[in-house]
Amino acid sequence: MNKNLRKAVIAGNWKMNKTATQAAQLIDELIPAVKDAGCEVVICTPFTSLVTALEKTKGTNIHVGAENVHFEASGAYTGEISADMLVDLGVEYVITGHSERRQYFAETDETVNKRTLAALNAGLKVIVCVGENLTQREQGVTEELVRMQTKIALQGVTAEQMANLIIAYEPVWAIGTGRTATADQAQEVCAAIRKVLAELYGQAVADATTIQYGGSMNAKNCEELVSKPDVDGGLIGGAALKAGDFATIVAAASK
Ligand code: 13P
Repeated sequence: MNKNLRKAVIAGNWKMNKTATQAAQLIDELIPAVKDAGCEVVICTPFTSLVTALEKTKGTNIHVGAENVHFEASGAYTGEISADMLVDLGVEYVITGHSERRQYFAETDETVNKRTLAALNAGLKVIVCVGENLTQREQGVTEELVRMQTKIALQGVTAEQMANLIIAYEPVWAIGTGRTATADQAQEVCAAIRKVLAELYGQAVADATTIQYGGSMNAKNCEELVSKPDVDGGLIGGAALKAGDFATIVAAASK
């Protein structure tokens, strides 16, 4: 398995944190801290901070993403944001299928698939999240579940579009809990995801696809996680809100 075949990507998922004013302050700290990164650096901010983030990061190595996108192009969907609205602003990335969207906002594998397709078709790069909850892990169905989530999320996605798609393996029990998956657990599931990609698109596409780990990744445990052969970076929640910690994770993924 050759990690040089794909990009390591460290993406911050800011979730519902930071006003636009606070976002500007954090980005001012981040710019010098990650400027020498040897991996792709992305910050996914709340919709209200996107314009600020885009203005602040212009001419830097920081890429900007949104945390969700609706699947319809336009219409009577109060409170939703379309892919074209994001593209028009200059947003490059978007997260789909985050477990918090699935858990609190009734998103299903089917709506995750629709959002992923809408985003890809509009030209966005998509970070699709999959992952089991604690019960499912204890029931021993992690691999089956993650395989199913991946296959449904990717229905209709072409091999060419896979160049714009990242999968983030985020075990729900590790998100915001301080309980990280071990590096071996992360590796095992990321490898299983790559196997599904090979079945769907062939080995070359599977080898070229970035697969991240997410769930309590921090400045202390990042090094071991990203050193695993199938873990190509991370999707970072809490630690992405501290410039120093985020920069440490970026540096670990740059090696
Ligand atoms: P934490 O890093 O806060 O556990 O969050 C992970 C996550 O959900 C990233 O999308």
